[in-house]
This record gives sequence, C-alpha cells and structure tokens, in this order.
Amino acid sequence: MTKTKKIEQMRFFLSEQMQLFRCPKCHKSFVQVEKNSFKCELGHTFDISRKGSVFFLIGKAPDDYSKNLFDSRRTVIQHGIFDPVIDYLSKKINNSGLVVDAGSGEGSITELLAHKINNQLLGFDISKNGVDLAVSGKTQSNLHYFVGDLSNIPLADHSVRAIINFLSPANYGEFGRILESDGVVYKIIPNANYLVELRHLKYQTNQKHFNYSNENVVNLFKENFASVESKKFSYKVAVKEISSELMAMTPLMWDAELRTDFEIDQITVDLTVLGGKQWTKKKKLKD
Ligand SMILES: C[S@@+](CC[C@H](N)C(=O)[O-])C[C@H]1O[C@@H](n2cnc3c(N)ncnc32)[C@H](O)[C@@H]1O
Ligand SMILES: [Zn+2]
Repeated sequence: MTKTKKIEQMRFFLSEQMQLFRCPKCHKSFVQVEKNSFKCELGHTFDISRKGSVFFLIGKAPDDYSKNLFDSRRTVIQHGIFDPVIDYLSKKINNSGLVVDAGSGEGSITELLAHKINNQLLGFDISKNGVDLAVSGKTQSNLHYFVGDLSNIPLADHSVRAIINFLSPANYGEFGRILESDGVVYKIIPNANYLVELRHLKYQTNQKHFNYSNENVVNLFKENFASVESKKFSYKVAVKEISSELMAMTPLMWDAELRTDFEIDQITVDLTVLGGKQWTKKKKLKD
C-alpha cells in the first residue's frame, strides 16, 4: 500500500469517526480534518504524518526502545511466536466494535490480528520509532496507528469495545474511561517460563531474576477488573534461524553480553491472557 493511500485512509477515518477522539491537550472534541491536520474545538492541531500516522503526544516522544529492538521484534513475531495467542484473541474479539492495542510497538500483533478480524483496530504507542515501523508495514485498511501516551489516551469516554495490552505497561484508569460499559480488556502477561532460555543465559541460578513471578500483575488486574477470565499459553517454538533477533527483541538482554557464538534451537512462550470487564457501580459498592 502506498504512503499516499495510507494518508488518505487516515484522513477518511478521522473525518468519519471524529467522535471517537478527544484532544489530549484540552480533552474537548475534535471538529475538523483540514488537509492533513486534525483540529479540536479549541483549535489544537495534530498532523497526519507523511507515513500516515498521527502524533498525539504533547512534547517529544521518548526513544527508550531502539529501531533495532523493534526490527528484531518484528522478525520474531512474524516468525509466528505469538500466533496461537493472536488466534485466540481474534476469536474472543469476534468482529464487533472498536479495538485498541495499547502499546502496539512495531505493529506486527495488530497487523496479524487485522488479517483475522473485520473490526476497526487502532494501535497506540509512545514510541515514534515503533509507530513509524508499524505504519510502514501496514497492509490492512481496518488498521490505524497513533503516537500516543497510555496515561492520556486521545480517545473519547466509553468509545472502545476491546483493549489489547500485549506485554506492555497499562493505565487502568484510562482503560476504564475509554471502555464501553460491556467492553473487555485483554492483558497479555509473561508467566514464569516466558523466554526462559534467554533469562537463564543471562542470570545465574542464585540471582533474583533467574526466576520470574507475575503474581503482583495478576492481583492488580483482578482488583481493577471484574469477571476475570484467564487463559494460559505454554509452548515451544523452533527459532534456530532467528536466534540473534531473539536476543535483541527484549530489554532483558540489553545489558547482557550478547552471545554471538550461541544458537537457541527452541524458545519457550509462556503467557497468560487475562480478560476483564468494568466493575459495575453495584459491584463496586459491595466490595
Ligand atoms: C515490550 S513492548 C511490547 C510492544 C508490542 N505489544 C509487542 O508485544 O511487540 C512495550 C511497548 O510499550 C510501549 N509503551 C511504554 N510506555 C508507554 C506509554 N506510556 N504509552 C504508550 N506506549 C507505551 C513501548 O514504547 C513499547 O512499544
Ligand atoms: Zn484541544
């Protein structure tokens, strides 16, 4: 798909679905798409980039994650390491309503999902490097990417049917605000054996990070959301030909001595998908 086509698709989406957004500066509604800029009631403007995304951050985007990390992540995800989880999410989401990927990184997860569902899918990430890659790789017209901060999501209250939060930080206050009353948050978190081969390469058995527990993350999710469903995925993927990308795909290995002499034959994917709904007021009072 050409860049011009992506810009046109974004312009069309913003004009048609203006009511979904709220200005991250003043929290008022958007009123106009003029040429390549999106304008709120108070005149704040946000430009559609030459690649076809919109930059909604106030201030500069942090560059915590390098292009190299995102490139490696793209190779590994497109190799298929998360395919069973993406397949599960596509069946849960079930083709209705707006879906937001909060922390969409370089976009492979949303791209793969967009091939399986007809929903409109919006990817938000604070990293411009990530969003630039995501929008360059986009092939689906039901998919749009934005540079945005999860602590100030530029979406209107109760506008979203499902939020995906895949191995990314969360902001449950904002998630609750943008979710429709019967909307669902899917948070994908690592279990003890997620990429365990990498962790065991880096840490000694007596070191704190040799083992990992997600207990606190699960507890916090359960405090924030109701009717929590939990689905565990644990499998190994053959990765011999992409072992250097695996080493570079996670911040875990940033300060580790990179073992170029080393090949990993198989990697363990051990993840849990937590699905939760908004607490109703009645339920909140009871607790
Ligand atoms: C480990 S990556 C996961 C990305 C993607 N979901 C994946 O699995 O490949 C975590 C992502 O969260 C993003 N992130 C961190 N803080 C954020 C924030 N406040 N708002 C939006 N995105 C954020 C990072 O830029 C990064 O892309
Ligand atoms: Zn504004």
